[in-house]
Amino acid sequence: MSIWKRKSLAQLLSEAADSEKGLKRTLTAWSLIALGIGAIIGAGLFVRTATAAAQSAGPSVTIAFIVAAIGCALAGLCYAELSSSIPISGSAYTYTYATMGEFLAWIIGWDLILEYAVGAATVGIAWSEYLNNLLVNVLHVNPIPFSLSHSPFQSNLETGEHGIINLPALFIVAIISLLLIKGIQESAFVNGIIVIVKVAIVILIIIIGWNFINPANHEPYIPQSSVFTDEHGIDHSYGGIMGILGAAGTVFFAFIGFDAVSTAAQETKNPKKAMPIGILGSLAICTLLYILFAHVLTGVATVEDFRTGGKEASVAFAINKYMIGYEWLGQLVTVAILAGFSSVILVMLLGQSRVFYAMGKDGLLPKAFSDVHPKYKTPYKANLVILVIVGLFAAFVPGDIVGDMTSIGTLFAFVLVCISVIILRKKEPDMIREFKTPFVPLVPLLGVGVCCAMMYGLGWTNWLRLFAWMALGIIIYFAYGKKNSKLNNPE
Ligand code: ALA
Repeated sequence: MSIWKRKSLAQLLSEAADSEKGLKRTLTAWSLIALGIGAIIGAGLFVRTATAAAQSAGPSVTIAFIVAAIGCALAGLCYAELSSSIPISGSAYTYTYATMGEFLAWIIGWDLILEYAVGAATVGIAWSEYLNNLLVNVLHVNPIPFSLSHSPFQSNLETGEHGIINLPALFIVAIISLLLIKGIQESAFVNGIIVIVKVAIVILIIIIGWNFINPANHEPYIPQSSVFTDEHGIDHSYGGIMGILGAAGTVFFAFIGFDAVSTAAQETKNPKKAMPIGILGSLAICTLLYILFAHVLTGVATVEDFRTGGKEASVAFAINKYMIGYEWLGQLVTVAILAGFSSVILVMLLGQSRVFYAMGKDGLLPKAFSDVHPKYKTPYKANLVILVIVGLFAAFVPGDIVGDMTSIGTLFAFVLVCISVIILRKKEPDMIREFKTPFVPLVPLLGVGVCCAMMYGLGWTNWLRLFAWMALGIIIYFAYGKKNSKLNNPE
């Protein structure tokens, strides 16, 4: 019995072929791109951009987007190779099982909870911010009280009122979990419509907002190095190279999701071709939009705005305050963002349930996680457990904290995926690879380097949270997974 035991490739592929009993294959390359963009454009762009500008980089948040995009492209090329040759549910978790053995596979699976479940909570919290904006600025009614729409660790900057529970965040997570239980095909259709609306609104803001850029807000483009202390008393490096790196870690959140596409491999028709197109295509489109959008947003409003009144629902705030005559755009944006965030939550919860499904099948989690609903063919029990975990984070933890936890956890997963490509090339040189990462090992190694730099930029409080989360995971593995894993305990 060894914690380093690997799954053989033959075993993985035969599991995939066994799809009769498993999930339905319904998705095409286009639905994957839609799924990708559905997951990608969300709170990262509409909420974290302003946070990164306020806490770390000012206008140079655009450069941070470029750094983050480079890291994602490098890791994306590695994801594309792995997902086109191992088209099985479970993403990085499954790849690691084949390359680095069970213990590291568990580590990565546990880490992916940060990406998908905690990520979904982050977007749920952002949804809650924009819901209040909808109530006040679009419907002209009273907002949900501060105490019922914020975590206990937050207080109102003006009134001093404390949060108790974030009910709207909890609500949206619950609704989408139920939708997912009903089935992925229906969910992908709803997602497709939302994606079109979301992309249209981003383009509209870029075009109209361009005329409202105040050049003074872009001076200096890269602020001088200093320290910014946030409302929780945490210091952030502001300005200079460290500011850009920190901001890159924060806005990296905006790219999370293109890899979620790979978790749908088992539900994709012709995954070997469709996967690389889905992953890299959605990444390319989003990168371009993000850089332009960040340039406009930091040109329209000031960093001071994003630290005070525009801290929440920042995009709607900037439009309402500075783009006079375009109040309708502020209203439209709010509605579109609410829909857009919903599709992000959907893809993240989908990714999480598929990772749990794979872990349940392998015995690293209880078997219930891989039970498929007799009628809907979805891992409904996994979805319900996820609802509880995500709900707790969404209801009780502030958005900034879960956002950075998501970023650092995902970056760590990317690092392991890049390393997996190098290892798998050595261990399984003859494996059929429909898509090959170019310039191995250079591209994966650069991927590791850029992702580690962003992790470094996120600061020690986030490293600490990552270590604590991982320590908890290791305890659970030795208390449960090791004893129950199918690979280590064949019947
Ligand atoms: N990339 C997703 C977002 O920005 C997670 O919300």
